Amino acid sequence: MANTRRPLISGNWKMHHNHFEAIQTVQKLAYALNPADHDAVDVSVHPPFTDIRSVQTVIESDEMRLIIGAQHCHFEEKGAFTGEVSPAMLAKLNVALVIVGHSERREVFGETDDDVRRKTAAVIAYGMTPILCCGETQEERAAGGTDAKVTGQVKAGLAGLSQDQVAGLVIAYEPIWAIGTGLTATPEDAQSACRVVRGVVADGWGREAADAVRIQYGGSVKPVNAPDLMMQPDVDGLLVGGASLDPDEFARIVAYHRLIG
Ligand code: 13P
Repeated sequence: MANTRRPLISGNWKMHHNHFEAIQTVQKLAYALNPADHDAVDVSVHPPFTDIRSVQTVIESDEMRLIIGAQHCHFEEKGAFTGEVSPAMLAKLNVALVIVGHSERREVFGETDDDVRRKTAAVIAYGMTPILCCGETQEERAAGGTDAKVTGQVKAGLAGLSQDQVAGLVIAYEPIWAIGTGLTATPEDAQSACRVVRGVVADGWGREAADAVRIQYGGSVKPVNAPDLMMQPDVDGLLVGGASLDPDEFARIVAYHRLIG
C-alpha cells in the first residue's frame, strides 16, 4: 500500500537560543523555506519554554507555516510542581506538538516509562500531539537489545490510549548512541527499528493505527543523510537536534524532498 503519511521534520533546539536568537532563527528559517517545502513536509520547531511566546508571536503575525512545538511538559494541569510547565499552558500558546520521553529527559532527569505514559496522555487530553521518543543505548545495541528496548518503551508510553489516539500521534526512534555524536544509524538500521515500532502499534492498536502513525528517526541527522533516511518505507520524518539550530542547515534537511521527489 502506498504510504500516505505526511512527512514531519522537527527541530529540537534543546537548551539553546535565548528568545532574541529564537526570533531570528525562526525568521531565517521561514525565509529559507519555500511554499513547495511546506506543501510537501510539515515542519516544527521546539524551542526552550522561555522562547515559545516570542516564537508563537512571530509565527502567527507573519503567517509562517511552521508548527510550534515544545520539548516536554508535566502531566498535571496545575499544582505545586516547582519549575514545571503544564500541558494546559502549552496549549494556550498554540503549541501543537510536544516531545515526550526524550532520552535526555529519561537518562539525565530520571523520567520513567510511567511518567512518559502520563505525559503522553496529558498532551493528547489538551488537544496537542505527542512525539513519543524511544531508543537504545550503545550497550543495549551491542547486546542485541534494540528491538526489546524500543518495544518496551513504545508499549509502556502508549498504554491506555485508543486506536484513534495512537493513529494520530508521532513516535520518534532516536538511538542514544547516535544523538549528538555524529554517528548516524544507517538507513537500514533506522528502517529496521522504525518497522519494529510500527509492528508494536499494529499488535496493540491494529493495522489502521499502525499505517497512520508517523514515525521519525533522530540522531545526528544532517542535510547529507536526510534523503537516504527519508527514503526508508517506515521513516516518516526526522527529529533533528544540533543541525536544527542553524536555519539554513535545517532548511536543507527539509529540502530532502526535492532530491527524492
Ligand atoms: P542530534 O541531531 O544533535 O544528534 O540530536 C538528536 C536529538 O536528540 C533530537 O531530539
